[in-house]
Amino acid sequence: MIRATITGIAAELPDDILTNDELSNMVDTSDEWIMTRIGIKERRILKESGKGSSHLGAKAVKKLLEKTATDPAEIDLLICATVTPDHQFPATANIICHKAGINNAFSYDLNAGCSGFLYALATAQQFVENGKSKKVVVVGAEKMSSIVDYQDRATCPIFGDAAGAVLLEPSEADTGIIDSILQSDGAGQPHLHQKAGGSVSPASHRTVDAGEHFIYQEGQCVFKWAVSKMADVSGKIMKRNTLAHEDIAWLVPHQANLRIIEAVARRMNLDKNKVMINIHKYGNTTAATLPLCLWEWENRLMKGDNIILTTFGAGFTWGAMYLKWGYDGNYRDY
Ligand code: UT7
Repeated sequence: MIRATITGIAAELPDDILTNDELSNMVDTSDEWIMTRIGIKERRILKESGKGSSHLGAKAVKKLLEKTATDPAEIDLLICATVTPDHQFPATANIICHKAGINNAFSYDLNAGCSGFLYALATAQQFVENGKSKKVVVVGAEKMSSIVDYQDRATCPIFGDAAGAVLLEPSEADTGIIDSILQSDGAGQPHLHQKAGGSVSPASHRTVDAGEHFIYQEGQCVFKWAVSKMADVSGKIMKRNTLAHEDIAWLVPHQANLRIIEAVARRMNLDKNKVMINIHKYGNTTAATLPLCLWEWENRLMKGDNIILTTFGAGFTWGAMYLKWGYDGNYRDY
């Protein structure tokens, strides 16, 4: 049986760091509040003007190609998960391909809020498993700072900018993506969205004056849904693959709030040292959180490790994926 397996991973982070102390000079907040309620110490911000998500995405993809010694011409598909595309059109994926020298591929964007990377991975898996594509890049790329209101203390501490990319290839070994559960419920729209800039409310002086191009979030409502849905699908995927908690090597949860991550791990009966957590350094980078975790933990991953990825985001969208890691983390000499 052919499975789609991750064979390499790379990431790109902007150099500029925005600390909680700096944020405390911008809005009425404190390092203590942010650390206690969210668990974020600092986040990266892409400050260079005229650069968008494709800048970060293309850098991550170039590193990925270099690291895996892949000729850009061999890539036959690239999917970019993002809620902060460079433009409404064309797709940021097209721009990333152009910047990374990928010119034999088809490419498109996928928006599933913070679940975008998981949705894109599951989509790419289909092309690999049915034999249509041999080398697929899935990239999560976000310049969240472009839609954050730095006068709104309820949202500005949360988000950061980053990109992460993986290479997906066919494998006949017993590794790769085994199962996934993806779900969405548009009833979540009022609780987490961007009010203007789409076809319902195109950009105008009024929408800009009213701050309607920024993220709008009803935090408590989203929090409750996130804990319950991520724990629910992660439990379901473990059950239907007869996985007990001791069989799981790593849980890779979306990094939205440390309290959410801890609550999900508790409900899954998983020890905290099996949970990838880097929210304190990067914040919530939306579609980039999962690859950013895998990238940071890559050297500790071993072939055959059972990994559960889980996400929750705008839509609402949520999901879980079970994969068996495909290589020993340090098999390449870099
Ligand atoms: O990635 C997509 C999915 N998104 C999520 O999963 C996010 C889910 N939600 C959350 O992570 C949390 O709800 C937040 C971090 C957004 C907010 O934390 P909370 O513990 O739910 O706070 P809250 O909104 O209930 O606010 C509690 C208090 C309020 O003051 P009062 O009304 O009790 O006087 C807020 O005004 O904290 C106040 N507050 C702040 N205080 C200091 C809100 N933001 C801040 C702040 N600094 N930055």
